[in-house]
Amino acid sequence: MIMTIEELRAQCENCRKCALAETRTKVVIGRGDPHADLMFVGEAPGQTEDETGIPFVGAAGQLFDRYLIAAGIDREEVYVCNILKCRPPHNRDPLPEEQDACIGYLRSQVRIVDPKIIVCLGRISAMRMIDPAFRITRDHGKFYQKGKFLMCAHYHPSALLHDPSKKEEALADMLALAEKYRALRGGE
Ligand code: URA
Repeated sequence: MIMTIEELRAQCENCRKCALAETRTKVVIGRGDPHADLMFVGEAPGQTEDETGIPFVGAAGQLFDRYLIAAGIDREEVYVCNILKCRPPHNRDPLPEEQDACIGYLRSQVRIVDPKIIVCLGRISAMRMIDPAFRITRDHGKFYQKGKFLMCAHYHPSALLHDPSKKEEALADMLALAEKYRALRGGE
């Protein structure tokens, strides 16, 4: 039996599998349509996400929204979440043991949403979900069939904030993704 997003939320809110449970303000599960065809997986909540309990609402999230808008994708029709459900202090990279503790929740989330396409946002998510040898500068925007899911990785929006020279490639990736997404949905 596949659990519901609400059951998953209850599990995550009670989770104490790693030390991030001690420092989190809110658990950040996901946002959007829990049965979306397109799912984005980021890294971990930042400060604004930790305060609000909603993924990708800080500066990086606002930039991400602008890419969705540019590609004609409504944020409410997709599902957005992270590898980690709790914020690492000072936004440091998630530790392998934190990822190991949390990955089961993401697996449940993928089963619930059952998307057609999964997009990893950034290197950490791509290395965890597509290939440990993934190199974001080399491999971003490429599509991979992984079992029933079509997968790809885009630059993380925080990386674009730090290095605006990547923005053109990031837009091209988002436009190509939108085309693939519409084609898989039957040209809507
Ligand atoms: N960065 C992420 O990877 N996820 C968020 O939710 C916010 C910033």
